[in-house]
Amino acid sequence: MNLTAYNQVSVPNLMYGTAWKKASTKELVQLAVASGFRAIDTANQLIHYEEALVGEALQALEQQGVRRESLFLQTKFTSVDGQDQRTPYDPAADLTTQVRQSFESSLTHLGTTYLDSYVLHAPFQRRGLGAADWEVWAAMEELYESGKTKMIGISNVAAGQLAELCEKASHKPMVVQNRCFAALGWDKQVRDICQAQGIIYQGFSLLTANREVLVDPEIRAIARRLGAGVAQVIFRFAMQIGMLPLTGTTSQQHMKEDLQAEQFTLSADEIQRIETIAL
Ligand SMILES: NC(=O)c1ccc[n+]([C@@H]2O[C@H](COP(=O)([O-])OP(=O)(O)OC[C@H]3O[C@@H](n4cnc5c(N)ncnc54)[C@H](OP(=O)(O)O)[C@@H]3O)[C@@H](O)[C@H]2O)c1
Repeated sequence: MNLTAYNQVSVPNLMYGTAWKKASTKELVQLAVASGFRAIDTANQLIHYEEALVGEALQALEQQGVRRESLFLQTKFTSVDGQDQRTPYDPAADLTTQVRQSFESSLTHLGTTYLDSYVLHAPFQRRGLGAADWEVWAAMEELYESGKTKMIGISNVAAGQLAELCEKASHKPMVVQNRCFAALGWDKQVRDICQAQGIIYQGFSLLTANREVLVDPEIRAIARRLGAGVAQVIFRFAMQIGMLPLTGTTSQQHMKEDLQAEQFTLSADEIQRIETIAL
């Protein structure tokens, strides 16, 4: 199944994340695509991601007949604050130039002429949006208008910041990517804005940020009823409430399980219970 944003661009409803894979990135991306993933998330940020190795995997997959157009590729612009000394653009350049250089470097790393989604890794400040955010967003809007990326988005964004962006930007984001805490109603405030605005909400750390939920007796009972794993219940819950979950599993078995989450159906009562389980 796909999710469709307000600009009518669609994304597969489960995405493979490539953070922290280091030298295994190429092999794991190939394995993920062979297992059935069609959406890949990375970032032009060497501290956490090996974008160039994602590109090597894509090249190998292309040789095996997996066409670029059959995949959804998403990467991110990470500001100097989120980089080490290996900044993939001139850190002394103005922000507009930094975004353009980072984007071109991502295209080179990934061996592609366009992206499906280009995401601002994080706003420059915790509350509200400042001049730096608006300059970067304008540069990203320019990339979107040029057709070099089919979507633009923002990550690690607070509800107030997202509301401001939606209100004032020429192009509001088509995707949001946030860490999803069950204790915040699975990021309910931000998800509600996304739903109202036709923005695709991508959730990460669904398992790792919610360890107490994974051992909750009610979740375990639901998993038993479905004959599923707890991780599958969480991913299916996410899908049923309209979220696009990310998984970065390193296990082929877990890749299969995560993809199979779509085959289960939670009841309305179960959805409501999980949504409020940590509140
Ligand atoms: N925008 C941002 O700032 C940001 C920040 C963090 C992450 N992300 C993105 O989100 C992606 C996912 O990151 P994440 O934080 O959600 O965590 P993750 O790195 O994917 O970790 C998921 C954990 O869940 C386990 N797991 C997955 N499927 C499982 C299953 N079926 N059964 C049991 N365990 C399972 C994995 O273990 P196994 O490896 O053993 O399966 C792993 O320990 C990243 O790769 C990245 O692309 C973005």
